[in-house]
Amino acid sequence: MDQDRIISGAPFEEEQSFELSLRPRVLQEYIGQTQVKQNLEISVAAARSRGEALDHVLLYGPPGLGKTTLAGVIANELGVSLKTTTGPIIQIKGDLTAILTNLQPNDVLFIDEIHRLLPHIEEILYPALEDFKLDLIIGQGPSARSVALNLPPFTLVGATTRAGLISSPLRSRFGIVHRLDYYTEEELGVIVKRSAEILGIRIDAAGTKEIAARSRGTPRVANRLLRRVRDYAQVKADGVINREVARQSLSLLAIDDTGFDENDKKLIKTIIEKFSGGPVGVATLAAAISEEVDAIEDIYEPYLIQRGLLQRTPRGRMATKLAYEHFGLTPTPGQLSLL
Ligand code: ADE
Repeated sequence: MDQDRIISGAPFEEEQSFELSLRPRVLQEYIGQTQVKQNLEISVAAARSRGEALDHVLLYGPPGLGKTTLAGVIANELGVSLKTTTGPIIQIKGDLTAILTNLQPNDVLFIDEIHRLLPHIEEILYPALEDFKLDLIIGQGPSARSVALNLPPFTLVGATTRAGLISSPLRSRFGIVHRLDYYTEEELGVIVKRSAEILGIRIDAAGTKEIAARSRGTPRVANRLLRRVRDYAQVKADGVINREVARQSLSLLAIDDTGFDENDKKLIKTIIEKFSGGPVGVATLAAAISEEVDAIEDIYEPYLIQRGLLQRTPRGRMATKLAYEHFGLTPTPGQLSLL
């Protein structure tokens, strides 16, 4: 379903190449996340001037905010190669050993979804991160020996949407930890404008603003919406994106003024209508709307919470007064007393 694609976590192939062409290569081109950028500028410049590997970096925050992009920028600014992998792909010790032993001095290794590393893989990483050493077992049975292998100094950039799921031994090995936040509408406007320029899409200021406002604070969503609206403009208008074209196109995609879509609406309506406004446990909620718990926790919920429509309480999720107002629902007297 198209709606799923708009805000799903994992990019599709078609979208990957699209995103790749839009990715900034240096910190100066990277829009938003001002404080993170300022801090990274200093860390990178210092490591460069000492000729050392940058300290390990942990980036966390909701999906689509540019963690992978930032890893590429860091490697580029350091003038080293970037090697990329993801936590769940690394299944056996040999996979990680091969990756680590192929690094050049000061290279950046990017591990996405680092919270999903298997525990026995994570353990190999500890000495590699701390002392640039790998403990290998050579041989089997009584003749097996442990050999310490030296690795070149390198920088691990770990990314996660769930900082809370990272074990404390792993977390403590990152010297630099930054949280990426949702972008402002103005920042998204600059990103949409930049993307349109790169792709040769004609769009005016009001059209840009309209897309930015409905992008859930997320550059990946902004770039996706830009692509959808471009299609609409081409087929239904004269190819130029203005406010009206953007509005019509996004309404057709059932994306409202704030960027909420049918999935958000379903989630909130379910809490209100089936669970009396909450609190309801996330697993129950997931079953009720036929969604994965992970999708709720990673994708839908953070933005609903940020916009003040949903509350996460110790007893479960609750719809707020704003949620009733936003979706035009009237609380029953019982629900009113809880708001
Ligand atoms: N494309 C995606 N994220 C971006 C960002 N933060 N700055 C510029 N372009 C982007």
